[in-house]
Amino acid sequence: MSVRLSSRAKLTKPSATLAIASRAKQMRAEGIDVVDFGLGEPDFETPDHVKEAAIQAIRDGFTRYTPASGIDELKEAIITKLKRDNGLSYRQEEVIVSCGSKHSLFNVAEALFESGDEVIVPAPYWVTYTEQIRLVDACAVIVETREEEGFHVTRRLVESAITPRTKAVLLNSPCNPTGAVILREELEAIAALAIERDLLLISDEAYESLTYDGRAHVSVASLDEEIKRRTILVNTVSKAYAMTGWRIGYAAGPAELIKAMSAIQSQVTSNPTSIAQKAAVAALLGPQDLVLAMKAEFDRRRRYLVGRLNLIPDLRCTNPEGAFYIFLNVSGFYGRMVDGRGIRNSTEMVTYLLQTAHVALVPGVEFGSDAHLRLSYATPMETIVKGADRIERALRMLHR
Ligand SMILES: Cc1ncc(COP(=O)(O)O)c(C=O)c1O
Repeated sequence: MSVRLSSRAKLTKPSATLAIASRAKQMRAEGIDVVDFGLGEPDFETPDHVKEAAIQAIRDGFTRYTPASGIDELKEAIITKLKRDNGLSYRQEEVIVSCGSKHSLFNVAEALFESGDEVIVPAPYWVTYTEQIRLVDACAVIVETREEEGFHVTRRLVESAITPRTKAVLLNSPCNPTGAVILREELEAIAALAIERDLLLISDEAYESLTYDGRAHVSVASLDEEIKRRTILVNTVSKAYAMTGWRIGYAAGPAELIKAMSAIQSQVTSNPTSIAQKAAVAALLGPQDLVLAMKAEFDRRRRYLVGRLNLIPDLRCTNPEGAFYIFLNVSGFYGRMVDGRGIRNSTEMVTYLLQTAHVALVPGVEFGSDAHLRLSYATPMETIVKGADRIERALRMLHR
């Protein structure tokens, strides 16, 4: 018997980042030394005090169901964090803990959107946004930011895409994949537009802890009370505390929406893992110096790579202001030949670099730009140096 999948399932793309990672892994299993620039997770260990909190939770028998939307202790820790780092005040009813912020975002989509609704998504974007919006039958309206403007989202750009069906605007600062960090003035202009046109803002702040060159992360909800009322802030412990596998993310926003999201979550996953919730409390309330140490190391790698890659003729590399990705413009190499064939797009370039140079990157087409490749520098410095050498050699081999 053949299984008849839903049209929704048929249209859903598996994560490209994970697909590249599995190809790289397979090559490694065959004994090939692959440099992996594909990963979307810090290469650091989860801090010891966080691990200890989870071990203690197991010892204490904290291993049963918790309230579906998370334990009060973690909600309080999130509230403390949002006050401490973002100057925001929330009540427990305005906070939900989910199985990663990807899950929080999906809850938001399920609770808010339906067929006919439009959500403005600036490109380049994290591919999950468009997939999740489609999964709830809504429509992602893509607006292209400009590389020459540092991939910054502007009010003008958002405004150009508003229709009577627009319900929300998705903001991701610092941005995956470009690293762009939206400035306070830019946020103020977009927030004013949201108020004028009665739109919601979904603010994904997963990379909040990683901003460089003195740029500060500004949470759009902190601009004023009116904008806070129409903002759903989404964040995670994954990137800041190197806790990707623990699956703890959260959202803060209007109580009515959080209540609906909690009801949905209670029917889909129930609570996020009990012991991971305890670990997240330790991460959010414990010492924050490790976060700064990780940021300093990411910054060192970023500076090296941007300087190095920009020396390669015809490669363009915008200085990322945050996160741990570089969005490399490789379109200057399109049309050049390898084995008698021209490389035409980002997927072919990724295949070429993987096969020839044994370097794994992610094709930009997955993020809405076929001119680019995403390079993650969440990998040790020695590997980065080796990988940059290989990319340079492979690109120089391409001839017109
Ligand atoms: C922009 C962005 N938001 C959210 C997430 C989700 O992180 P998690 O589900 O681990 O909290 C990621 C992960 O790669 C991301 O890049």
